[in-house]
Amino acid sequence: MITIRVPATSANLGPGFDSIGMALSQYVTLHCEPAGEWSFVLQKKDQPFIPEGKSNLIYKSALFTANQYGYDQLPAHKVTMTNEVPIARGLGSSSTAVVGGIELANQILSLRLAEREKLKIACTIEGHPDNVAPAIYGGITVSSYDGVNLESVRFSKELEQLTWVAVIPDYHVETEEARSILPAQLPYKDAVHASGMANVLVAALAEKDWPLVGRMMKEDKWHQPYRSGLIPDFPHVSKILEDNGSLGHYISGAGPTMIGLFHHAGERQLAALNDHFPNYQVEFLKADLSGVSASVSPALNQ
Ligand code: HSE
Repeated sequence: MITIRVPATSANLGPGFDSIGMALSQYVTLHCEPAGEWSFVLQKKDQPFIPEGKSNLIYKSALFTANQYGYDQLPAHKVTMTNEVPIARGLGSSSTAVVGGIELANQILSLRLAEREKLKIACTIEGHPDNVAPAIYGGITVSSYDGVNLESVRFSKELEQLTWVAVIPDYHVETEEARSILPAQLPYKDAVHASGMANVLVAALAEKDWPLVGRMMKEDKWHQPYRSGLIPDFPHVSKILEDNGSLGHYISGAGPTMIGLFHHAGERQLAALNDHFPNYQVEFLKADLSGVSASVSPALNQ
């Protein structure tokens, strides 16, 4: 029996579009045991959205990984999935499948992949590194990828002081739709300014200047001004987060989840937030510092 755990992730953190991402303390867990054919056993809530056979993204990512290392096929497994990560809400659910699949092939075929090799494969599948990098490494990652060249740097210091309050609406926003509304071009001057804001965000993360991190999350010219139209409740949620002491907030990934950053948040403060958001799923999350993990144990029926 192979058990694989992959954290949820939050991409962009405001101006770090397609580059910055963070692993969060919510997980997809895969219990995998050898079987006659491939199957995915899902919780009821996920059944309408996740395929149970070979069109499952976990299987496709595992097979893609196997192919990269010269294997045509993978020994069949039954994969029982426990999923805390809401689907199509901007918390990296598809990246958990990609990274989970890569790890599954790594374990089944004993490939002994280094984290960087996993990241290269994940970027080839996903197209951008911002969700898959933190799902592999844990912590906050800042990455660049142009389809060939890949760089990724990880931050993890003192992240335990922070609480990330995810306010999750009950509707889905598909990444494809949220990307299709972005402009094809940005004027040079705006791009320079947008990159400056992302640079300040990264410097503030490095210096652990959390109030500045919070301010910069709200400053973004790449995607949030366009996407906030897809999230009608964005102004309302922003105001409540601000009124209750958040340092900053942003649209997580392609949305619709909105995340507020809190430093040394007290239990009472967080409980009050729950009361303000009766129509949302509210999660109080910490940074995950481990990234994907796997363990192997004897099968239960042996
Ligand atoms: N950076 C991506 C986006 C994350 O915002 O579209 C979702 O895949």
